[in-house]
Amino acid sequence: MAGKDKIKTEKKNKIKNDKKDKKSKKTVRNEIYIVGAGPGDEKLITVKGKELLKKADLVIYAGSLVNKKVLNYTKGECVDSYGLTLDETTKMTVDAVNAGKMVVRLHSGDPALYGSIVEQTEELKKYDITAKRVPGVSSVFAVAAALETQFTLNNVSDSLIITRPAGTTLETDQIPEFSELGVTMAIFLGTQKIEEIMNKVRCPKTTPVAVVFHASWEDESVIRGTVEDIARKVKDAGIKRSAMIIIGDVVDPKNYAKSYLYGVKQGPLD
Ligand SMILES: C[S@@+](CC[C@H](N)C(=O)[O-])C[C@H]1O[C@@H](n2cnc3c(N)ncnc32)[C@H](O)[C@@H]1O
Repeated sequence: MAGKDKIKTEKKNKIKNDKKDKKSKKTVRNEIYIVGAGPGDEKLITVKGKELLKKADLVIYAGSLVNKKVLNYTKGECVDSYGLTLDETTKMTVDAVNAGKMVVRLHSGDPALYGSIVEQTEELKKYDITAKRVPGVSSVFAVAAALETQFTLNNVSDSLIITRPAGTTLETDQIPEFSELGVTMAIFLGTQKIEEIMNKVRCPKTTPVAVVFHASWEDESVIRGTVEDIARKVKDAGIKRSAMIIIGDVVDPKNYAKSYLYGVKQGPLD
């Protein structure tokens, strides 16, 4: 090959190789995605969450509350994090990222509620891995849909308290104090302690209470009662987990005021 031609070919090859290098660097991401899977119904994941699952090589999902049907959106390897330590899931994530894999951590509902994602992301930061979050539909909203109610309703309740009872990870709770406020309460992770919870609330015994099991799943079920009798009803139904307790008059809405929004009376909108 003549000298000039040789230089030209070498230049071309260098450009080609640089492009290749850039491409391969692009596929080594040092980020993962924390995605909300929604409350159960596989159609209640966000479009963005579904697209990320499609692209994922590894999906680490949070146990029994993520409907396995959601995992049909991915062709990647799926690992149930139930029983794994934070160190183990971190190592698995770091190894996958270093191998150029796209990782999704899939949490039930919305990851911002009882999801332990802050500690996960803190660990990953030590390896220079960032976690981008994709919100999901929390089970609390699927519960409102199952009850055919609103958590905030004019004249009934303007606020929603999201809480959980004391247990292994929480020494004391504020359920007695919250229940004096007369607003809607959504109690996560509490079905097993329902009797204890009903004994410590300070609202009238006649206050409506509902327990919704597996909201939005095919086997969703709703039990309605009052502070007085809900624990017995839930026990009789054999429900021990995967359910939410809603306390407040919105469970059985009666004396609510119509919204100004629909022209009953035009007030300031904000
Ligand atoms: C660890 S928390 C996770 C909550 C989740 N991040 C969310 O936003 O729904 C698990 C608790 O959420 C509630 N939960 C989750 N999915 C549910 C569903 N489909 N129906 C009723 N309660 C549900 C239950 O109280 C359960 O004990």
